[in-house]
Amino acid sequence: MKNMKLNRFWGMLLFAGCITLSMGTLAWSDSDDYNKAGSKYAGEGKAEGGWGRTTGVALVTNKQYQTECSACHFAYQPSFLPERSWVKIMGGLSDHFGENAKLDEAIRVSIENYLRGNAADRIPNRYSRSFLRSIRDDATPMRISETAYFERKHDEVPARMVRDNPKVRSFANCATCHSGAEKGSFDEDGVVIPGFGSWE
Ligand code: HEC
Ligand code: HEC
Repeated sequence: MKNMKLNRFWGMLLFAGCITLSMGTLAWSDSDDYNKAGSKYAGEGKAEGGWGRTTGVALVTNKQYQTECSACHFAYQPSFLPERSWVKIMGGLSDHFGENAKLDEAIRVSIENYLRGNAADRIPNRYSRSFLRSIRDDATPMRISETAYFERKHDEVPARMVRDNPKVRSFANCATCHSGAEKGSFDEDGVVIPGFGSWE
């Protein structure tokens, strides 16, 4: 009799233990997903015609990246380029598009890890697949603005609005035209070109 009770006791304990463990696992895998994304998506709904695609681009949440990489230009969301591109960019900072953008090694590694973990081939969103598909497997672009998908999307924007426009100068200045760029929105109805106005 005494033994039976003891067994029930241990049985209950084991049962409770299992529940606690599985709850822990659930919570853990949740936070793991969150860490993989490293950031929240700007849009919550699904874009039309897209399976598993969100309406926006994941926001930049990494403070080091924001501080170190936005001194000269917009802090591009990492999901516009594949992981191998970020590795190449972060490996050549002393000659970065003609500029010296060299960083302290610990900071460089930390930013590279953030960029790699949130690259187009890691984080699915509304545009990452299109960008990826437009890049050849054996190519490692250093520019978002030179990928085929980017060029296709911008081929109706004439040079007088970009290169010859002193208020824009370069396609690299995303946020100059995309009013919602920092919030991860690149819809054409959010485009306002300085000196020319709304795109639509
Ligand atoms: C000292 C200034 C400077 C700093 C700091 C800097 N960049 Fe740049 N970056 C440039 C210039 C200049 C260009 C070329 C811009 C252009 O073509 O108009 C550029 C272009 C780029 C592009 C390509 C944009 C395109 O055309 O698609 C990427 C990607 C990029 N930088 C990433 C980074 C990252 C990551 C960091 C932080 C580690 C960083 N940059 C820090 C000066 C800088
Ligand atoms: C000179 C202004 C300008 C600059 C600079 C610019 N864009 Fe654009 N972008 C546009 C316009 C205009 C469109 C809409 C084109 C159309 O639909 O014909 C567009 C469209 C896009 C689209 C497709 C939107 C959609 O949902 O179809 C993406 C993504 C995008 N831009 C990303 C970027 C990124 C990233 C950068 C910086 C590396 C950038 N753009 C720089 C003007 C600009």
